[in-house]
Amino acid sequence: MNRTPAAAHTLNRIQKAAVDLGIDLENLPAHVAVIMDGNGRWARKKGLQRLLGHREGYKTLRGVLLDASELGIRYLTVYAFSAENWRRPKEEVDGLMVLIERAAKDELRTMHQNNVRVQVAGRIDEVPEGLRKALEHGIETTKDNTGITFTLAINYGGRAEIVDAIKEIVAQGVPAGQITEETVAAHLYNPETPEPDLMIRTAGEMRWSNFLIWQSAYCELFVTDTTWPEFGSKDLLSAVHTYQSRTRKFGAVVE
Ligand code: IPE
Ligand code: IPE
Ligand code: MG
Repeated sequence: MNRTPAAAHTLNRIQKAAVDLGIDLENLPAHVAVIMDGNGRWARKKGLQRLLGHREGYKTLRGVLLDASELGIRYLTVYAFSAENWRRPKEEVDGLMVLIERAAKDELRTMHQNNVRVQVAGRIDEVPEGLRKALEHGIETTKDNTGITFTLAINYGGRAEIVDAIKEIVAQGVPAGQITEETVAAHLYNPETPEPDLMIRTAGEMRWSNFLIWQSAYCELFVTDTTWPEFGSKDLLSAVHTYQSRTRKFGAVVE
């Protein structure tokens, strides 16, 4: 592990801004998860169609991925489409699938150049074939990259993930008496990925909406009223700064 103090290196743009805010670069959350919410409300505020909100949200995501990567965050997981989002009007669902497929294709080269490793979480066998193939291609292309691990949660449901884990455990014939929390964790979609330390939700709702419900048992929450299309570098830094002000106790007593 590289133990050289960050100050000894030349700090990049976002690291400088972080240090100016009082953020300790040696104590960043390793894994940040984001519930990217409020695209529809942003669009309505502007008198635009919801899909234009999603398009704007995609631009935000590009910036946040770059910021997180340059800041030194190791894992970024974003909720792009929930297992429950199929309940939306067909036009919006179709539009989102097209948008995500195009984004996956258009961003691959830049992500690869930036040493980003792409993963997905969710039942991707149920998404349209073109999107599934684009995601699989992205995962394969970037699998040996050593920079930030970017996980796109798509057709993702936390309960579905736990059900899928249980199915695997049962299929492997693991005796009930041998099942522990570690067994369940080892059968989640990306068992090598550490649990999130910080979960950010934009647009103000105080709920999980079925996101990483197993993994987020002890993660710190940061909810902002800012909608996802408006979320920028300073909001990310503010979330990290707030995270660093929290005392994590994991059930124990911390003096
Ligand atoms: C989040 O924005 C994006 C997805 C769920 C795909 P919303 O579309 O949920 O935006 P609001 O909640 O309607 O404002
Ligand atoms: C959660 O947002 C899903 C994503 C951000 C992809 P929703 O907008 O679907 O959540 P609810 O419906 O407000 O709980
Ligand atoms: Mg929403």
